[in-house]
Amino acid sequence: MYKLFGTLNIPGDKSISHRALILSSMSIGKSEITNLLEADDINATIKVLRLLGIKILKKSGKWLVYGNGTNGFLQPNKNLNALNSGTTARTMIGAVSSNPIKCRFIGDRSLSRRSMSRVTVYLEKLGAKFKLTKNDYLPLETLGTDRLMPEEIIIKKPSAQIKTALIFAGLNLNGKLSIREKVRTRDHTEKLLKYLEVKHKIIKGNDGSNLIELKGPYEINSKNIKVAGDPSSAAFFIVGALITPGSKIILKNVMLNPTRVAYIKILKKMGGNITVKKTNNFSGEQCGNIFVSYSKLKGVNINKSLSPFLIDEYPILSIAASRANGKTIMNGVGELRHKESDRIKSIVQNLKKIGIKAQNVRDNIHITGSSSLNKKTCKIKTFGDHRIACSFMILAVLNKNIKIDNEKCVSISYPKFKKDLKSLLKKEFLN
Ligand code: S3P
Repeated sequence: MYKLFGTLNIPGDKSISHRALILSSMSIGKSEITNLLEADDINATIKVLRLLGIKILKKSGKWLVYGNGTNGFLQPNKNLNALNSGTTARTMIGAVSSNPIKCRFIGDRSLSRRSMSRVTVYLEKLGAKFKLTKNDYLPLETLGTDRLMPEEIIIKKPSAQIKTALIFAGLNLNGKLSIREKVRTRDHTEKLLKYLEVKHKIIKGNDGSNLIELKGPYEINSKNIKVAGDPSSAAFFIVGALITPGSKIILKNVMLNPTRVAYIKILKKMGGNITVKKTNNFSGEQCGNIFVSYSKLKGVNINKSLSPFLIDEYPILSIAASRANGKTIMNGVGELRHKESDRIKSIVQNLKKIGIKAQNVRDNIHITGSSSLNKKTCKIKTFGDHRIACSFMILAVLNKNIKIDNEKCVSISYPKFKKDLKSLLKKEFLN
């Protein structure tokens, strides 16, 4: 038997790493980025930016980005390949749409099945023009302009990628752009704008909505950025420690942005022994150390209204639910069908495979936990989805009969996941 024991530094946040690179590229002058996540999705953004004429290099552990301004992207001479990264494709489509260049975005098989019109319909309201495959997918061409029009946009679907695409486009728009999101989503773009001293207004409504007002075009002065640890990566070890007897871990400098750590509240409600202590502020984001020890969990009902704040953590929450006493219901998780894999299917199918009662009822997932472990070897199908792979690799610590069909796909968000997990594994002698 193994337990998780010890201290770990969590790598840089994926969402912030994309935004730090893109906003530094749109600033004027050199920015140094530290603790940037080094993973496939972020490499995709770096390569796309380089093809757009941005000099980006790594020197003495820091990433240097030489920004060209909000109107500074150059005509690329190759396709822009976002690989598996929805955030690269969707936010960069917004960034280039307000520059007078033509780009062709492509992606891997998974990304080519994910909707791009969810972003372009809004950008079209500003006057941007696109050609999409089957009106929705990559390959996609942007026919850029530096004359986007002021507009008032209302975003109905909660999506930080849509909001960010609009904000990036708005930075080189002449006049006022107001963006209202009906439901608040992760706000790292706004936090970085504030840190970079980009003047804008944010008005939070009592109904949970959020209004962002920009008045472009902007000249942004470059500033060094330190990326906070990724709470979505931390979530794997937190659940690992909660479900594995004898575990006790400390995770350091994890970002505590409230739009990202709702899962900690859920795990506490399930009976998880988790303590959070605030530490530093990294470029506008509060960080903290997280202390976790093994706990007996119970099933909970997770409200639909929390889904935008839990969207990347449902796979690992489903692992917690599979070991909890009683039933967990994840309500209103339909959006999971549109992630790197159909995550409703990937969660339910794999849990069933290992003998857990799991069911998809309309847009909800029902999981009845069990403390017994299946004795037969079974192979988890990740569908190439990094969060499914990491989640089941955590469950595999408890049950060596669980094998993963594609562990390599963790490199999309966390190349050192297995190494970091191994560094925490210690032999547990149970009496
Ligand atoms: C992200 C937003 C979320 C999230 C994704 C990263 C971002 O997607 O699932 O992993 O960095 O803005 P949606 O905006 O589609 O919800």
